[in-house]
Amino acid sequence: MENTTLHAQDILKVEGLRKRFPIRRGFFQRAAGWVPAVENVSFSIERGKTLGLVGESGCGKTTVARMILKLLPSDAGRIMFNGVDLCGISDAEMKPLRKEIQIIFQDPYGSLNPRMSVGEAIGEGLRMTGVRGAPLRRRARKSCSPVSACRPAPSTGTPTSSAAASANASGSPGP
Ligand SMILES: Nc1ncnc2c1ncn2[C@@H]1O[C@H](COP(=O)(O)OP(=O)(O)OP(=O)(O)O)[C@@H](O)[C@H]1O
Ligand SMILES: [Mg+2]
Repeated sequence: MENTTLHAQDILKVEGLRKRFPIRRGFFQRAAGWVPAVENVSFSIERGKTLGLVGESGCGKTTVARMILKLLPSDAGRIMFNGVDLCGISDAEMKPLRKEIQIIFQDPYGSLNPRMSVGEAIGEGLRMTGVRGAPLRRRARKSCSPVSACRPAPSTGTPTSSAAASANASGSPGP
């Protein structure tokens, strides 16, 4: 992609992003080569707009997203979020920004802990941002209701796993 010009209304601007993964071999796991996962990716997103990053499997879409979220360090490039250069800030400085910039992983089995209820899973993210107690429970329930995830479980018979999850969601999302 070509370089983008900075506009005041850009909420996210990515410039020259690059990531190579080492191919490790042998007893000492030395880098025997490199996988060029992301090469010189640049784009910007205006406030209120949506951008779809589309490409064949393995072309680097998830790697771009993980670098934007600082879940993975970039080898080169600049990531500006609301005017802040994310590459130049610490994990502590990144923490408050995590309320505003998030990832939804595509594999629910890898992303969601099956031991947690729906309410707990939603509440876990909120807890990380400092929300606790009644406000946490209220917001978890509110997030469940548009998708009808808080319906009570059927009163008779053995509940299915989704019904069990729904039943749990109507309870407490945890401490
Ligand atoms: N941790 C890693 N170590 C080594 N190689 C990796 C790692 N993560 C990703 N890759 C490689 O980087 C390339 C880009 O992977 P990525 O997951 O970003 O692709 P993708 O576009 O999201 O694919 P898909 O559409 O299948 O989700 C692939 O060749 C992948 O094998
Ligand atoms: Mg992917």
